[in-house]
Amino acid sequence: MDYIYFDNAATSWPKPDVMMQAMVDFNRNIGANPGRSGHRLSIEAARIVFDAREAMATLLNAEGPDTIIFTRNATESLNIVLHGFLRPGDHVITSSMEHNSVMRPLHALLEQGMKLTVVQCSPEGVLDPSDIERAIEKETRLIITTHASNVTGNIMPISEIATLARARGIVYCVDAAQTVGSLPIDVKRDGIDIMAFTGHKSLYGPQGTGGFYIRPGLEKMVKPIEQGGTGSRSEFEEHPDFMPDRFESGTPNTIGIAGLGAGAKYVLDIGIDAIREKEVSITGRFLDAISSIRGVKIYGGKDPHRRTPVVSFTIEGHMPSEVSYILDREYNIMSRPGLQCAPSAHRTIGSFPEGTVRFSFGIFNTEEQIALAISALEKIIHMRS
Ligand code: ALA
Repeated sequence: MDYIYFDNAATSWPKPDVMMQAMVDFNRNIGANPGRSGHRLSIEAARIVFDAREAMATLLNAEGPDTIIFTRNATESLNIVLHGFLRPGDHVITSSMEHNSVMRPLHALLEQGMKLTVVQCSPEGVLDPSDIERAIEKETRLIITTHASNVTGNIMPISEIATLARARGIVYCVDAAQTVGSLPIDVKRDGIDIMAFTGHKSLYGPQGTGGFYIRPGLEKMVKPIEQGGTGSRSEFEEHPDFMPDRFESGTPNTIGIAGLGAGAKYVLDIGIDAIREKEVSITGRFLDAISSIRGVKIYGGKDPHRRTPVVSFTIEGHMPSEVSYILDREYNIMSRPGLQCAPSAHRTIGSFPEGTVRFSFGIFNTEEQIALAISALEKIIHMRS
């Protein structure tokens, strides 16, 4: 069946053949535990993990592969950072457009004596950095924001926030689950301290992979929440404090990391600028076409250059869940309705509690699919009139 897959912000699909091939190759031809044993297969497995780390460091323009930690997903990365860095009495600033992967750990930490300010974004979901600046207190130790909303696609002013954080000695953590692999990122130029990413969205890797970047030296301020075997310094019963072992223990998801590395290299081969150009073009095409349909409300900014390829909308008189259901069952179009795990973002843009219908595009989507989706939406609207 020819599915039209517009749910790339939940997870990208289809996946590139090179990514799947890397996973098959690892399991078929290598299979060993990386960095544990000295034999050739174990060394080869370690090389695959190292290559993936290096590809991620290149994509982010990080100082080196040891600044990259692999985890299960962006949520695990954010939990490691937030629980490991914050102490009772610390003040944290975040925005009202965050996903629950930021909001929920922060709310759990409130019970341990941390203080939180949620800076309100505009009804379009736009964050004004001067509002962050105004929220800074003497105890502020961390600012954490998304790089781009998973609901509206709006790109946040991360380099401006990084500048004001750096000037005051405050650590700035970016949730880049929606952007790594889709937007150009340069952690050194932008002054980003920590950046959480996922492997299965714009990096075209498998689900269950992700990680975070941490600026060299800052890792000492994040207490690891897990200890165990690393294959290094086995003579000690204390966990090593060097990178990346400080935050990685137990046998890793090597097959997943093989896929993640291949996905990252795939993105590097195509080039972020080319990916961005295609995604801006397809998003612009959809925004133009949908804007002229009566009864449709689009959320977030209208300029495709200032958003990721994510568009949330509602149709007057129809529940988002109903629209997504009809799109799926009658038109083979896959979208994500509801709150997209970001209730605060929906409160901000005025779509709580029903949420929106969210289309999120990827590099495999075509203009023909956009035209089919527009025609499907027009038919759904006319069904009722
Ligand atoms: N956070 C993912 C989404 O936005 C799963 O759909």
